[in-house]
Amino acid sequence: MDSKKKISMAVIRRLPKYHRYLKELLEKEVYRISSKELSEIIGFTASQIRQDLNNFGGFGQQGYGYNVDELYEGITKILYLSQPYNVVIIGAGNMGQALANYPWLQNSGFRIRALFDVNPRLIGLKIRDLEIYDIEELEAYIEKNDINIAFVCTPKEKTQKIANVLSKTSIQGIWNFSPVDLKVNSNIVVENVHLSDSLFVLSYLLNNREESEE
Ligand code: NAI
Repeated sequence: MDSKKKISMAVIRRLPKYHRYLKELLEKEVYRISSKELSEIIGFTASQIRQDLNNFGGFGQQGYGYNVDELYEGITKILYLSQPYNVVIIGAGNMGQALANYPWLQNSGFRIRALFDVNPRLIGLKIRDLEIYDIEELEAYIEKNDINIAFVCTPKEKTQKIANVLSKTSIQGIWNFSPVDLKVNSNIVVENVHLSDSLFVLSYLLNNREESEE
């Protein structure tokens, strides 16, 4: 695979779904699959699958289909999931605590190290074995513990200020739950999460059954 080849974001955004289903196939000890069979379980058309996976080259063979293990490992590499990341959570309220309580994240290589908050009633408490620290300690903690990613779960009006602080650190990525478009230093990547986007699509599909059956 040519790792420098520019892959469209539309393809990249489909890869986690391939990754998830391929993992399930491996767990069921399925080691070989055609694009047609993959299409039936994943919901993308066979031609879409061939087109997507051709981007990376070498995964499928005419008449054989895909080697599930190779494909899974290939996508793991493309998404850089074989390397672990060190994570902090900023804002230890409902969302921050929910993420800290989600063991799947730890098992997927996103190693949550600590939470940060301003609320003195939360500072010093633990969520599972993770300590909640004073937000004032954030910068020093990031540098000392080689933190790569911040999950930001603070109220909307506080979040840009936090992004300004993060911009002064060596942090590389922000997973932003707060509904605000952040301005950050150019060496930080921001990925916004809006659960409601998916919910609103559900609402649309509920009322347009034909579309939902596609
Ligand atoms: P929450 O009020 O339970 O928690 C927010 C926490 O941030 C509190 O513990 C508060 O003390 C702390 N905080 C406030 N200012 C801070 C600062 N300067 N530094 C560090 N910590 C600070 O709120 P909740 O429900 O956890 O929501 C958090 C954010 O996530 C909100 O912006 C909300 O709109 C957003 N949200 C996003 C969703 C999504 O799908 N993206 C879904 C639900 C919530």
